[in-house]
Amino acid sequence: MLNKFIKLVEVGPRDGLQNEKSTVSAADKIILIDLLSETGFSLLEATSFVSPKWVPQLADASDVMAGITRADNVRYIALTPNMQGFERACAAGVDEIAVFAAASETFSQKNINCSIEESLNRFIPVIDAAKAEGIAVRGYISTVVHCPYESAIAPEAVLPIAEQLLEMGCYEISLGDTTGQGTPQTVAALLSHLTKALPPALLAGHFHDTNHQAVANVMTSIDFGLRCFDSAVSGLGGCPYAPGAKGNLSTRAVAEALHKEGWQTGLDMDKLALAEAHITSLNLLQTRSS
Ligand code: HMG
Ligand code: MG
Repeated sequence: MLNKFIKLVEVGPRDGLQNEKSTVSAADKIILIDLLSETGFSLLEATSFVSPKWVPQLADASDVMAGITRADNVRYIALTPNMQGFERACAAGVDEIAVFAAASETFSQKNINCSIEESLNRFIPVIDAAKAEGIAVRGYISTVVHCPYESAIAPEAVLPIAEQLLEMGCYEISLGDTTGQGTPQTVAALLSHLTKALPPALLAGHFHDTNHQAVANVMTSIDFGLRCFDSAVSGLGGCPYAPGAKGNLSTRAVAEALHKEGWQTGLDMDKLALAEAHITSLNLLQTRSS
């Protein structure tokens, strides 16, 4: 049974709401996270402790973390780009943090205002501090197949960053197709290269669904041995520093496709519907993937 299990990491409250043009109150974020906590996810990305000047939508990260009802079987993760973010996340009592690098120099500059090398150096003290506090660290790499500024990204650009993040102490690398331009062909080329050097159990897929290729990209990744994927309730998502990036892979779409293929996700689809209904009631402005 275990080898037919796929772990879905819900990232909607962070990756969805970071890009939302409407104002979503902390109270509504808390309701959403509490509903998702009942749905069966073991890891839930709740928010980001980034600069509020860069992402005002998540300026309320500490209030949101303080307001949610922690479910015993759920670990709550948040993005932390630097020590300042780590200290805020720690004070808010997150279970895990995520650091985020990019495979494209231009995207790195646009998203976190530093080069790839500078970002990795910046993560060293963050990861060391997390280790000292017993907080697990997940690593993201954005723009793994396509960059909104540099176009195609070669698999050779991704591998050394993944290796360095793992070496520094990340337990897993989530591979971000930030703009959703990936296809089963480009994803296969990437994973063919990465899995020659890294066990697939250390890799996860984070596919935006701009061109409705995300489910196909998950299925391709499964063929390469990946068993963990990020998805977002109602397909929320995008990155404010990636023009054209639309929603994440919808949690319902991927779960239903996986269940059809005989995979288990542990998700309660009726409970997921309650979280989806809450999103719908908010009348958000951004375009979501269906
Ligand atoms: P910077 O401007 O170079 O930073 O930004 P700084 O250190 O010069 O600080 C500037 C101001 O921000 C200062 O305030 C700091 O205190 C404050 P001031 O003195 O001017 O009043 N500041 C902070 N405040 C609170 N928390 C913090 C923090 N850090 C600085 N942690 C920085 C550098 C990294 C901070 C900035 O670029 C940033 O926050 N970027 C985050 C952008 C972001 O969140 N992007 C979306 C997430 S990544 C993504 O979506 C992709 C992903 O989904 C995967 C995929 O799809 O590919 C993960
Ligand atoms: Mg993303």
